[in-house]
Amino acid sequence: MATTSTFHQKIAVVTGAASGIGKALAAELIDRGAEVVMADIDAAGIRSAAADIDADGTHTVTAVLDVTEAEDVRRLVESTRDERGRLDFIFNNAGIGSGGPVEHLELATWRRTVEVDLMGVVHGVAAAYPIMVAQGFGHIVNTASLAGLVPSPLLTPYAAAKHAVVGLSVSLRVEAAAHGVRVSAVCPGPVETPLLDQPGSVNARTLLTNALGEAYPADRLATDVLDGVMANRALIVAPETARGAWGYFRQSPDEMLASMEAQAVASAERRAAEARG
Ligand SMILES: NC(=O)c1ccc[n+]([C@@H]2O[C@H](COP(=O)([O-])OP(=O)(O)OC[C@H]3O[C@@H](n4cnc5c(N)ncnc54)[C@H](O)[C@@H]3O)[C@@H](O)[C@H]2O)c1
Repeated sequence: MATTSTFHQKIAVVTGAASGIGKALAAELIDRGAEVVMADIDAAGIRSAAADIDADGTHTVTAVLDVTEAEDVRRLVESTRDERGRLDFIFNNAGIGSGGPVEHLELATWRRTVEVDLMGVVHGVAAAYPIMVAQGFGHIVNTASLAGLVPSPLLTPYAAAKHAVVGLSVSLRVEAAAHGVRVSAVCPGPVETPLLDQPGSVNARTLLTNALGEAYPADRLATDVLDGVMANRALIVAPETARGAWGYFRQSPDEMLASMEAQAVASAERRAAEARG
């Protein structure tokens, strides 16, 4: 079966694996026969996530890792290759949300978002890609977002970093093909994870579910992602509502932007009227 041969006894590193999409990806990889190095900055979280999805600990190892630390990422990826003799997949998935009206954002917010959401992926690529080129095989899977494909007002630093992840992924994909290495970017709409409820000046859950409907379950996304990886898709966009929004923007960017602008102006006017009483 194709599912089995793609992932069976393959070695995968997953960052941000303590929670949400990363944990669901690790669980789905195990289900399909892979051995998974689960890495996360949250030491207690990564141990408990591994215990949840691999009770006897035979299919996973855990690592405490901050993806903003390039040397630490390199060490983990190289030691995985050294110990297992190969590196089949890296899922550069760790990420944080960020948002708010741009006029209120501190530069520190921009920097932190770029540091985790873009440079965290760059560090994974810089560590894994030379190994995969030398092997002549491997698949890099970068978690971007639908916010990496379409305008995402009030999530502007996040959208900027995620667009960069998409640009990195599709550009590297073309270079990598000559080396037998594959690269994909994952672009989900809202997914039911703690990220939607991260504290901040913007309520990501309300913002995203108003625009795109109910959040998608993380385990269903993980199935879609691994199916997309098997099919070697460049961009894995899910669920259907996300593909719809992406399609609309590609087909009619001016029309979509004009409609979003009209909504933003109307809600600003509503808020101003409420404030006046
Ligand atoms: N949930 C959504 O709606 C949604 C939609 C599109 C894209 N995404 C992306 O999916 C990825 C996973 O997010 P999630 O929704 O599962 O969120 P989550 O908060 O449930 O999980 C993110 C994980 O990343 C870890 N992490 C954060 N900073 C880290 C760092 N510096 N080093 C290592 N680990 C770190 C966290 O500890 C956490 O375990 C992110 O890249 C996110 O931007 C999420």
